[in-house]
Order: sequence, then structure tokens, then C-alpha cells
Amino acid sequence: MKSVVILGSTGSIGTQTLDVIAAYPEKFEVKALACSKNISFLKEQIDRFHPQAVAVEDEEKAAHLRKQVKIPVLSGRDGVMQIAATKADITLNALVGIGGLEPTLAAIAAGNDIALANKETLVTGGSLVMQAAKDKGVNMLPVDSEHSAIWQCLKGDKQCKKISLTASGGAFRGYTREMLQNVTAAQALKHPTWNMGVKVTIDSATLMNKGFEVIEAMHLFNMPVEGIDVLIHKQSIVHSMVEFSDGSILAQLSYPDMKLPIQVALNYPERGDVKFSPLDLTAQPLTFEMPDLDVFPCLKIAMDCAKQGGAAPVILNAADEVLVDYFYRGLIKFYDVPYYICKAVDKLAARDFQLTPECIRETDARCREYLISCLPGR
Ligand SMILES: NC(=O)c1ccc[n+]([C@@H]2O[C@H](COP(=O)([O-])OP(=O)(O)OC[C@H]3O[C@@H](n4cnc5c(N)ncnc54)[C@H](OP(=O)(O)O)[C@@H]3O)[C@@H](O)[C@H]2O)c1
Repeated sequence: MKSVVILGSTGSIGTQTLDVIAAYPEKFEVKALACSKNISFLKEQIDRFHPQAVAVEDEEKAAHLRKQVKIPVLSGRDGVMQIAATKADITLNALVGIGGLEPTLAAIAAGNDIALANKETLVTGGSLVMQAAKDKGVNMLPVDSEHSAIWQCLKGDKQCKKISLTASGGAFRGYTREMLQNVTAAQALKHPTWNMGVKVTIDSATLMNKGFEVIEAMHLFNMPVEGIDVLIHKQSIVHSMVEFSDGSILAQLSYPDMKLPIQVALNYPERGDVKFSPLDLTAQPLTFEMPDLDVFPCLKIAMDCAKQGGAAPVILNAADEVLVDYFYRGLIKFYDVPYYICKAVDKLAARDFQLTPECIRETDARCREYLISCLPGR
């Protein structure tokens, strides 16, 4: 039996992880769960999967849940960190935002393998996290479908010359700059192929999600940004590709379903045996196009921040978290997102920076403070 801790169990990835675990009752046991505030859903998960402890970040909601269950209900950020530090075979981190970074580090320190959905962990703390995992001898198992695809193709092969990340193109694929001027969050949330949480769906619509994935791939596969390109592939069937030094290309194909990369990560080093819908390659053509960086500047900004390194990716991430929230609340327009990200990076990225949790936290806070002081409708 492998023991699993799930951080963010009530979200899109967390829920699908529990679906995968339910399919293997003899293989996995749920050791602990954590969420932010959705206690009614968490209570259902406790009744079904019997974890030893849970954490709810919201103190009031945690107090409420304590009256309904017999297991320890930890609370606040400290409670989430305690659950993250719980010894287990695997910690699956499906938290959203930079709040996932320190829990990943805590789980690594506990010696747990990491199944990583929280891409912000590597966007903000990439080298720090990869070094910590190496020092501790734990596996970093990608859950993002693109990175899972690359990882499955590479199987540790070091002679990879290029990585091609595929992108569905999000809700606004094919739009012009003019069409994007007045789009709303409700439109951005209509993703054509994936059903995901709010933040990552809006990031898919701006292509910032793909920019984050470029940075994630750099760290996971030790590849410079120049060795990674992005292709718009609207069918979301080829989940990414790797090109080797002899020019040969390997790709991983399947219908879009996050339960597949989750199953791959949880079962490592074996493969799971739950079968997904068989792929009919005659049912649709597979097409690939270059992204339009003028229409979707967030992708280019992210790649520039990746090249710049230092504080730039942390500022990129913090600015995007603030701006997506403002866009979601209808306070700013689509192109305000890249505009204000560039403003924050220009203003703050040249500062002294060290890749430590404290400095990342401080840089993140400074960026949020700066942006909130210059944005409308605080
Ligand atoms: N969804 C996908 O298909 C997909 C694919 C690839 C990668 N990812 C990545 O996976 C991560 C999770 O995405 P998602 O779509 O699953 O997000 P989501 O649906 O918004 O779920 C986020 C989860 O984290 C919990 N949470 C949020 N803030 C928290 C906090 N401060 N403390 C404790 N728990 C907190 C939420 O709890 P409540 O429910 O109580 O609010 C929820 O359980 C993101 O980094 C995303 O980019 C997602």
C-alpha cells in the first residue's frame, strides 16, 4: 500500500486524484487531506477515504468541521503546513498559487515523493525545489499533462535536444487583438477541452499558463528556455513532444483527461492498469500552429522572465495572481494583465534577490503591494 497526502483535495486536480485512488483500493491509502474552505466536500472525502488527519486553512470553517468528525482537523496556514510535512509515500500538491511552494518544500523535507500539479512551486522556486528533491533523494513526478507526457517520453534519457509543449490555445484561440479588447472572465472560463480551476483556466486564455509551463519544464528537465517551444494544438491529443539529438521525435497521445497523468504519477515506477477511452486517430486531424505572441503577449513575457531569472519569475507569478483576480472580478481588461505584469517586472525585477523561501516570500509580497497601489478599484 502506498500512503498519499493530497494538498488541495477539494479542487479539480484533488478530486480527480481521489477518483484515481478509488479505482485502486488495494494500492493506495489516503493519509491526510488539506483544503482552503470547502468543508462540506471535505467531509464527504473524510467519510469515503478515512484520512488520519485533515487541515482547513479557514479557521472558522475548520472549527465547524471539528464538530462533525472524529479525526484531528488542523487549521490556518500552520495546519496546512503540518499536513504538508506529514510522512507518506507520496504528497500530491494540487494547491493553487505560490501558497503551494513551501508545502512542497515541507513534503520534500519529510522524504515524500512529490506528485506535482502546483506549477507555481517550480515557477517561483524552481532550482531551490529541484535541488532539495535531489539532496533528499525524492522523485519529482509531474502531474501537469504536458510535463507528464515529456517525462514519459524521456524516461531519464539525457540526449534530449528540444521540448515542444503543446497548448490547446484556451478559450480565445484564433481571436485577434481587436476581438480581445473587451472579453470578459466569463468568456475566458469557457475552455474548449479541459475542465479546470478558475486561475488555471484564465491563465490558459491569456497563454500565461503555457508560459508557466515553459518555466516548469526548464526546471523539471534541466533544459534552457531556448530548447523549449510551444505549439498550438487545438485537439489536445498530443500532450507534448521531445526531440532527441538524432532528430527523432517522441510524443504521448491520449484524449484529454487529467486522471491519466495523475495515475501515471501515483503508480510510478509501475504503470497503472485503469484503461482510458481508446484513442481513435481517424476521428480528427491533428494540427499544430505557432502561437501569435503579439495577440498573446503573456507567453512571451513569461519566456523573457525565464531567461532573465532571479526575481523575475517570482514577480511574474505574483503579478499574474493579482491581475487574474482583478480580471475575474471585472475590474480590469484582458490586455491590462500583460500591461501591469510588465510594469511590475520593470519596476521590481532588478532588486537584489536570493533563491530562499524568505526572499521569494518578500519579493512576492512587494509585488502584490506595488500592483495594488497602482490598480483601479482596490
Ligand atoms: N485543473 C487542472 O486540470 C490542472 C491541470 C494542470 C495543472 N493544474 C495545476 O494544479 C494546481 C491546482 O489546480 P486546480 O485547477 O485543481 O485548482 P482548484 O480547482 O482551484 O483547486 C485548488 C485547491 O486548493 C485548495 N486551496 C486553495 N488555496 C488554499 C490555501 N491557501 N490553503 C489550503 N488549500 C488551498 C482549494 O480548497 P477549497 O476548495 O476549499 O477552496 C482546492 O482544494 C494549479 O497549480 C494548476 O495550475 C491544474
